[in-house]
Amino acid sequence: MATSSCSLLLALVLAVAVMSPLVLAYDPNSLQDFCVADYTSNVFVNGWACKDPSKVTSADFSFSGFHIPGDTSNFAGSNSTLADIHVLPGLNTAGISLARLDVAPFGLNPPHTHPRGTEMLTVVEGELYVGFITTQGKLFGKVIKPGGAFVYPKGLVHFAFNLTPRPAWGVVGLSSQNPGLIRVADSIFGASPAVNDEVLAKAFRINQGTVQMIKEKFGAKM
Ligand SMILES: *[C@@H]1O[C@H](CO)[C@@H](O)[C@H](O)[C@H]1NC(C)=O
Repeated sequence: MATSSCSLLLALVLAVAVMSPLVLAYDPNSLQDFCVADYTSNVFVNGWACKDPSKVTSADFSFSGFHIPGDTSNFAGSNSTLADIHVLPGLNTAGISLARLDVAPFGLNPPHTHPRGTEMLTVVEGELYVGFITTQGKLFGKVIKPGGAFVYPKGLVHFAFNLTPRPAWGVVGLSSQNPGLIRVADSIFGASPAVNDEVLAKAFRINQGTVQMIKEKFGAKM
């Protein structure tokens, strides 16, 4: 091979090598086996301080409840049972959490976002019409049946709707120990203290009477 094409090849290999960390991004390596959350610590870190490893037990890594359907007798007709860092201390620094989602016939898991986690849903029973909206305002939606799965990219507004007269449920994985939850309508119309009527009227292009009517539905503290 000519020297020039050799150096061209070398340059190409180097360019790919330099770019690969951007493509193959992953959580930082843990520096120890685990860092079980110490809920009693007064040390404030990003996450929770580690519990004394000699006091860690199997219970710190276990959760039970995914076999029990969540109560869907609420206005939306859905319920999530979430095992995140708040109930499962062994998840601290692990970058993962799990949930069970139950959706009643014609129920809805209303539009919401998880600011810190990508989500993946698999349907176990029933059918769900799932979708998310990109930052460009494009909707990606699909009906998912048992055994099927769908990804909701991190931070994007998404929902799950049961279009059928049968209950549906599924299992959800999230790429954060503390994915966070912002329900779009609740956060805007149910904030406490309440967001000014003028702000919401202008933002939603409706009159202030309509704003107050919606606020009442979300139990805003006036
Ligand atoms: C979800 O289900 C749990 C357990 O059945 C219940 O305690 C909780 O109130 C339900 N949440 C909603 C919003 O209905």
